[in-house]
Amino acid sequence: MLDFEFCNPTKIIFGRDTIAKLDEQVPANARVLVLYGGGSARKTGTLDEVIQALAKREVHEFAGIEANPTFETLMGAVELVRNEGIDFLLAVGGGSVIDGVKFVAAAVPYQGDPWEIVESSKVKVRSAVPFGSVLTLPATGSEMNKVSVISRRETQTKLAFDSPHVFPKFSILDPSKTFTLPQRQIANGIVDAFSHVVEQYLTYPVEARAQDRFAEGLMLTLIEIAPKALVEPPDYNARSNLMWVATLALNGLIGAGVPQDWASHRIGHELTALYEIDHARTLAVVMPSLMNVCRAAKKDKLLQYAERVWNITEGDEEERIEKAITETRAFFEGVGIKTRLSDYDLGPEAVGAIVKQLEEHDMVALGERKDITLEVSRTILEGAL
Ligand code: NZQ
Ligand code: ZN
Repeated sequence: MLDFEFCNPTKIIFGRDTIAKLDEQVPANARVLVLYGGGSARKTGTLDEVIQALAKREVHEFAGIEANPTFETLMGAVELVRNEGIDFLLAVGGGSVIDGVKFVAAAVPYQGDPWEIVESSKVKVRSAVPFGSVLTLPATGSEMNKVSVISRRETQTKLAFDSPHVFPKFSILDPSKTFTLPQRQIANGIVDAFSHVVEQYLTYPVEARAQDRFAEGLMLTLIEIAPKALVEPPDYNARSNLMWVATLALNGLIGAGVPQDWASHRIGHELTALYEIDHARTLAVVMPSLMNVCRAAKKDKLLQYAERVWNITEGDEEERIEKAITETRAFFEGVGIKTRLSDYDLGPEAVGAIVKQLEEHDMVALGERKDITLEVSRTILEGAL
């Protein structure tokens, strides 16, 4: 097992009707800014519940954080927080709103151009405005991690930053808040969470037995619950499992002490930045092809994945790996997510454009062994056409 430090300070409050508990979590004298997305929080009544729970406090609102939150929009919130002397932030939404709030929290006290926080891994965030979240979309794990992914419209850039200062103080996870989600977003959530596990599991073995078994348990649970999580009317238990698995998939636990890949995410982010394809859909396109191209380097774990996750025990090693990749693709397609660039009307010209973006963002040595060069990324994308 690799060396690691693990600390996750985010408190999780899970279950039905838990929004009322905001009153216990947000300081009584706080000046609060509630931030949300394009309108679903208002339409579904979640925002009203939140405002009611915060009743005694001074509450301001910031609406309009878009899917794939942008620096341009978020700087408006930074200004508001600075001008109004706000001292607590509350994200109400999915990964985009929570990521956006993480950026605002870090940018407010930052001396200098806040874009530096996102752009340069050398910039260390030294403090952040405290914040909590009310999660309405299970997918990213942002509700219990220190990562934020921010886009800049002006330059078609999408980059991640992380800091221990941007762990949420608490997150409220009420699975019934997912009942208003369109199927497309539930499917996205299933694929994103599954991909997060794969990024931390499908590398090379380091005898991290508990992490492996835990990761396999999360993947098996997603495969098992996927059909139920998609049914209408929504099934509370399936949604509960999806919500908690998505959180566990990226809260640091399964990634502690193991190598991590993240190349599918890096390449996928460029696809979103250029063509505005939903995050999870970019992963469904890149990941099966990456498994195929990197099959030699990932051989041992691919065989373990084949056997323990897909129950594939027949055939020689290459056949078992091939079957596992086919099963993965079929799983994504089965929840309604297409896995080819051509399904998104993209052809060979897109491959060159994405590789160029990767080069511009210095994504030239990706993966657990840093051996996914631009040429390898090109091969992966060509394999996804
Ligand atoms: O904007 P509104 O109107 O709220 O609508 C949203 C949005 O259009 C809607 N929605 C959310 N909750 C709803 C709802 N609609 C009906 N009922 C509800 N209860 O869903 C749409 C998508 O929301 P979004 O927050 O964009 O989705 P998701 O949670 O998948 O977040 C994606 C973002 O997270 C980043 C992605 O790159 C992307 O920018 N990621 C963040 C990570 C992290 N912080 O650790 C890791 C991930 O790998 C990912 O990169
Ligand atoms: Zn993701």
